[in-house]
Amino acid sequence: MTAVPDRFVDKTVVITGAANGIGAATARRFLDEGARVAVIDREAEMLAENLPIHDRLLAVTGDCTDAEALTSFHARATSVFGPVDILFNNVGQSGRERAGPFHESTEEVWRFVLEVSLLTAMRMSRLVVPAMRARGGRIVNMSSDAAFVGDAGIVDYATAKMGVVGFTRALARELAPHHVTVNAVAPGAIRTRAHDRLTPEVIERIKATTPAGYIAEPEDVAGAVAFLASADARYITGQSLLIDGGRWMV
Ligand SMILES: NC(=O)c1ccc[n+]([C@@H]2O[C@H](COP(=O)([O-])OP(=O)(O)OC[C@H]3O[C@@H](n4cnc5c(N)ncnc54)[C@H](O)[C@@H]3O)[C@@H](O)[C@H]2O)c1
Repeated sequence: MTAVPDRFVDKTVVITGAANGIGAATARRFLDEGARVAVIDREAEMLAENLPIHDRLLAVTGDCTDAEALTSFHARATSVFGPVDILFNNVGQSGRERAGPFHESTEEVWRFVLEVSLLTAMRMSRLVVPAMRARGGRIVNMSSDAAFVGDAGIVDYATAKMGVVGFTRALARELAPHHVTVNAVAPGAIRTRAHDRLTPEVIERIKATTPAGYIAEPEDVAGAVAFLASADARYITGQSLLIDGGRWMV
């Protein structure tokens, strides 16, 4: 995975949930390609550990489910780096240890999963879209192949991530006349912290159901996000790009 030097010079990129995993890999990728990058994550220590000290990086500690935190992050990012050209709505998660079969699930966990995986993307987009309508831009939203496949045991997560697809399509249609593209990426099994906690049996099962036969790296997603954010992708909008080694094909 080779960075394209200077592809994003003079572009301001905002990424949510960028202290670890896919968000951190994407932040590093945009930095490598010349962008100014503003990130928000609630884990201050991991922001410092996983992202380089850089004059084109603004790293803010905050919770994306807190509307005020996102508003002040957006205000700070735009005052330091100027209006947002590229937004990667990455933050999201399943109920993790609270996930389980639907008949045992609770509304409290559904609300948590929908909030962090869907509403954060709507909230952050709402902040950047007014300026993007005037200047053009790129929005990339984080879905998951779990929504397409319909993975059991994480019904709320699949619901939120398919909500991201609907949000992507409708917003893409509204913003296309304004030279703003809106797309989603839908990864399959990517080696991040959540995967490090899986048992060897589960990892073998994932590999067996993935035609490519292996678990990919966060950088595999970062490369696709960078492409969708680039000038080369100007005529691609409303799409959901599966990055899952062939587990689901559209
Ligand atoms: N890893 C995979 O296999 C996979 C597959 C499909 C989709 N995804 C999606 O990719 C995105 C990133 O996941 P990842 O695997 O890189 O996870 P990760 O845990 O490695 O990183 C997620 C980051 O988001 C941050 N975060 C979580 N909730 C937050 C909040 N409320 N406010 C601020 N920051 C918050 C965490 O601190 C962490 O740094 C998620 O939306 C996830 O659903 C991941």
